[in-house]
Amino acid sequence: MTDRVLIFDTTLRDGEQALPASLTIKEKLQIALALERLGVDVIEAGFPVSSPGDFQSVQEIARQVKNSTVCGLSRAVKADIDACGEALKVTDHFRIHTFIATSEIHVGAKLRKSQDEVVEMAVAAVKHARRYTDDVEFSCEDAGRTNIDYLCKMVESAINAGATTVNIPDTVGYTIPTEFGGIIQTLFNRVPNIDKAVISVHCHNDLGLAVANSISAVQQGARQIECTINGLGERAGNCSLEEVAMILQTREAMLGLKTGIRSQEISRTSKLVSQLCNMPVQANKAIVGANAFSHSSGIHQDGILKSQNTYEIMTPESVGINKNNLNMTSRSGRHVIKHRMMELGYKESDYDLDALYSNFLTLADKKGQVFDYDLEALVFFDQQKHQQ
Ligand code: KIV
Ligand code: ZN
Repeated sequence: MTDRVLIFDTTLRDGEQALPASLTIKEKLQIALALERLGVDVIEAGFPVSSPGDFQSVQEIARQVKNSTVCGLSRAVKADIDACGEALKVTDHFRIHTFIATSEIHVGAKLRKSQDEVVEMAVAAVKHARRYTDDVEFSCEDAGRTNIDYLCKMVESAINAGATTVNIPDTVGYTIPTEFGGIIQTLFNRVPNIDKAVISVHCHNDLGLAVANSISAVQQGARQIECTINGLGERAGNCSLEEVAMILQTREAMLGLKTGIRSQEISRTSKLVSQLCNMPVQANKAIVGANAFSHSSGIHQDGILKSQNTYEIMTPESVGINKNNLNMTSRSGRHVIKHRMMELGYKESDYDLDALYSNFLTLADKKGQVFDYDLEALVFFDQQKHQQ
């Protein structure tokens, strides 16, 4: 089995559908080009049948993106698949992603069909999509809550019908990592033709487990992760691209898996998506939050100044951030103040470190964070005092 995990980005589909305001075609194109630069394998550009605007943006993205496969979403109905085929045919290679719900809750309450009828719909949809392209993905919506025997039957039928990727979504973010990994393991053990397709996972974050569930799945043989920049997506969002990419990179020796993500593009892509989508990133968000490479405690700052890997498991440069940040607060020690003064161009003989550190602590207790200009003012006032 290959060690390469494909990254399927759905920021422009699952992510976009959860935004308070839609993106313009230009904004979607800007994001798609950033995703291409980031090195994602598949860009799910939208849901062409849903609106003329979505159709047009999927078409424009398919026209302009050359190094990632562009994909459109469709329900398992002919009209949706035709809209995908029409929008995407401007490029030589594209993917159609068709889906239908498989859990008892969805099949009974939403689709109001029998399980056999749903299998027939899935098979017909995959076969119809194959008329447009040989790259067809089929998703079993709400797979996380689907009876495992039925899920095995659905996956086998979709592959026999011609699906080249079969996606196992945890649509409502219900499963826990051992359980979700177990579903993937069972599929590999029980579906006879499973090696004819790439098994993909698409995890939502309702319990904060989307990333953990996706990693558990690739440990059991899944080879595509569906994710979004900054974890955008329905409700609590989707699996976050930057987190899975950096887990697979940072723990490559442990997991033995790789992606094609150019990690130095992560910070820039995250900022672009946050700005265009008007969705601020929380400061303590892993990898892309403002504090992800900031150190506040004196003990940590002292460690970092001695050796960066004491408190950093990846470098800021590896995700496209110039350098880490040592916050100057009342928890900072003398070492960090001396270091910052040196970075600001001061020699040790230019100021009295004891006096500066004592004045710094008094100020930090009052205002919390102390900035470079505060340090310079403290030095200036101390010098003035001695000249009087
Ligand atoms: O969450 C989900 O099940 C989906 C499917 C359309 C793949 O977004
Ligand atoms: Zn989803």
